[in-house]
Amino acid sequence: MNNYSENARVNSAVTGVLGRYPDEPASLIGVLQDVQEELHYLPRVALEQIAHGLSVPRNQVYHVATFFKAFSLTPRGRHTIHICCGTACHLKGAGMIAEAIQSTLKTGDGETTEDGSFTVQTVRCLGCCSLAPAIMIDREVYGEVVPRALRRILGKYWEAESA
Ligand code: FES
Repeated sequence: MNNYSENARVNSAVTGVLGRYPDEPASLIGVLQDVQEELHYLPRVALEQIAHGLSVPRNQVYHVATFFKAFSLTPRGRHTIHICCGTACHLKGAGMIAEAIQSTLKTGDGETTEDGSFTVQTVRCLGCCSLAPAIMIDREVYGEVVPRALRRILGKYWEAESA
């Protein structure tokens, strides 16, 4: 995709998201989340457009976009796998889960698979410790995960990709 069509794609996505929110600074996090979900990252041009659209100083938009780990300023996979490595999950084998996911997808922590399908990210706690060990793919949480279940879980997303 050339720069012009990429910018047009970004512009259209951001315009669509901004249209769903009131034009006020309080909308910032929601807008960033929706744009991130749509584009899988927050390109610089999107941040500029958001700052302008919500009348928020540019440096504040950059601060929020770089402060939260959920946001990325570099392109990410179409699906994000969060692997919980918090205490409860760690005690129940999160290390094995992380290793199995990373070796299946041939990717490291914070990296994106070559085909752009998945970005893998370890996190401290997903907030569902009673389900340890837990992972979250996009917004879906999988609890009490065992390594042998991973192919089935990931397969769902592979199938959707190839459909
Ligand atoms: S430690 Fe894993 S969900 Fe809390």
